[in-house]
Amino acid sequence: MSKRKILVTSALPYANGSIHLGHLVEYIQTDIWVRFQKMRGHEVYYVCADDTHGTPIMLRAEKEGITPEALIARVHSEHLGDFNGFHIQFDNYYSTHSAETRHFSEDIYAKLKTAGLITVRSIEQLYDPVKNMFLPDRFVKGECPKCSAKDQYGDSCEVCGAAYTPTELKNPYSAVSGAKPISKSSEHYFFNLSDSRCVDFLRRWACEGDHLQPEAANKMREWVGEVGENKLSDWDISRDAPYFGFEIPDAPGKYFYVWLDAPVGYMGSFKNLCEREKIQFDKFWQPQSETELYHFIGKDILYFHALFWPAMLQNAGYRTPTKIFAHGFLTVNGEKMSKSRGTFITAESYLRQSLNPEWLRYYYAAKLNSTLEDIDLNLEDFVARVNSDLVGKFINIASRCAGFISKRFEGGLVDGTQYQILQQMVNERFAAWRPDVIEHAFEAREYSAAIRQIMKFADEANEMIHQLAPWEIAKNPDRNDDLQRTCSLGVQLFYLLSRYLKPILPATAQQIEAFLNCAPLTWPQLRDDQPVSDLLLPAGHKINTYQHLMIRIDTKQIDALIAANTQSLAPTVQDAPIKHAEKQQHAVAPLAEIISIDDFSKIDLRIAKIVNAEHVPGAEKLLKLTLDIGGEQRVVFAGIKSAYDPQLLKGRLTVMVANLAPRQMKFGLSEGMVLAAGGGNPGELFILSPDTGAQPGMRVK
Ligand code: MSP
Ligand code: ZN
Repeated sequence: MSKRKILVTSALPYANGSIHLGHLVEYIQTDIWVRFQKMRGHEVYYVCADDTHGTPIMLRAEKEGITPEALIARVHSEHLGDFNGFHIQFDNYYSTHSAETRHFSEDIYAKLKTAGLITVRSIEQLYDPVKNMFLPDRFVKGECPKCSAKDQYGDSCEVCGAAYTPTELKNPYSAVSGAKPISKSSEHYFFNLSDSRCVDFLRRWACEGDHLQPEAANKMREWVGEVGENKLSDWDISRDAPYFGFEIPDAPGKYFYVWLDAPVGYMGSFKNLCEREKIQFDKFWQPQSETELYHFIGKDILYFHALFWPAMLQNAGYRTPTKIFAHGFLTVNGEKMSKSRGTFITAESYLRQSLNPEWLRYYYAAKLNSTLEDIDLNLEDFVARVNSDLVGKFINIASRCAGFISKRFEGGLVDGTQYQILQQMVNERFAAWRPDVIEHAFEAREYSAAIRQIMKFADEANEMIHQLAPWEIAKNPDRNDDLQRTCSLGVQLFYLLSRYLKPILPATAQQIEAFLNCAPLTWPQLRDDQPVSDLLLPAGHKINTYQHLMIRIDTKQIDALIAANTQSLAPTVQDAPIKHAEKQQHAVAPLAEIISIDDFSKIDLRIAKIVNAEHVPGAEKLLKLTLDIGGEQRVVFAGIKSAYDPQLLKGRLTVMVANLAPRQMKFGLSEGMVLAAGGGNPGELFILSPDTGAQPGMRVK
């Protein structure tokens, strides 16, 4: 098999909101595919970034009283925490607000301009005379021109579904200041998508080529039109100041529209990775490149990826994508995610409830295929499916067989003649366990088909264990060989299933590698003339003692998750300050005695970056933190396990007492303390974070 060179992207999430379970459909889908390709030994890079520009981000920062730069820095670390928590393993997670993305945006723009594909035209737009800014459609509200419903957005009516332009709204007002907008003209820059060079190219590339899924190509034929028909309009790529983005080089006061630089962010993130890891950027982006480029996206942003983006690349002298993989939307219990029903579930809340991220990875995989169909997270089905498939079928194989191997055979699997008999059994009874069907399904993003096959295998393994009943054999001291061989067979089959499931369950796979005492699991590869037994662990291999690998979901955990995400329609804390204060009075502990400033200054508090956080085997309350205080590292055992998932802490900044005498604890030496509030009830514990901009090592005074 020749080694492929593959660059993969997921869409760049906006930097003004949290990652939710809808987003995760995409990142999990992509991550599984990338891990599968990496396991097969291909050279694969998976890049992403935050999409940081545009009016909503500018206004949100203003509302919070911070700079857009501070906002996007904070959101970047939140997003990274969420992705780490779900084992989304980017090779680079960057930002579109970067020198690299600016460079390629300007470069592509300049090349399009030289090719004569940029024109300047004056257009009329609604303008907020109080805020002194042009208003994007979503920031104009008013009455629907069709049904007169009040408070509708400038692009469409949520009551009757009508689509219109903001100038058609009756009694329009600015959603920013409330002022009545005026109509004002200004010069805008357009990318000439209606030029025959773009239209002809797109007809070939998007409508006739095999770069898109069939449903997506159909949509494109609708949008591009037949030969002779010209349905594409030029694309407005500029916005007037004030705007958070990149200023257009030769046009002061004009900025690139966020959707121009967003896909360029794929290049920017990859360029940044290339510089760091000495990868040849041009090999991946030159025309006729032999490398592969795949964009995973949601179906809502197909237009940008299948029309604008390839047309930009083609006309600026870069390669175009190999394929665009679009997926459908997530519904929860058959309905759109909803804040009032508690089904608008954030990634952070899921992890905070200590739900296992691999449960969700597995469930999504079991539902995903290569089409644009929506996928439903049915919470009851989620619990049932994870418990029965993952715990009941898969993990069960190991838990039923490994105990005997440890207790009776010192961890040794059979060797010699017994191994040969085992091989023969595998080749007869499990001859179908070849990777082909599963491999094909993963490659084609038919994950649900892959899982069907894997679970069919798991059923076969359980059936075998049930028939041979090692627990019965174990009662007869003369049947030691039978017992060791039967349990070895169970462990070997479990090993093979683990290899098939690793792209979906990377963390469990890591635990399995430790338990089976084997090298990192790779993708099983068999030539046609090789038997399945070639995929097994070697004769006489020794395994470690089995420790449980995954627990069942309890429905109560799901109830708690929904409750945590339910936005009550009752007044919030801010609306009810008196009640809040009342509640606080009872909880606040009495203040300590007065100290002098000299007493206080004896305490050396420092900004610390949590570079690593991990569980401490055997410790009930502690997490082991490795803190960076500006060049120096400290290990601290902190009693915050009840409230924090270590994955979520990595990369965060906090505050530590840096001159506390080190203390020898049962689990090791603790070299300081991190500051946290609360601690009364389990989970009610809050570590401190500095404002954006603070650096590790800074003294807190
Ligand atoms: N910033 C743009 C993408 C720019 S790519 C150059 C954007 N951001 S987003 O945060 O709104 O969405 C990021 C990705 O998540 C998109 O591919 C989007 O389709 C996907 N999803 C967002 N909500 C989703 C669901 N409810 N279900 C499935 N995918 C969803 O679009
Ligand atoms: Zn209407």
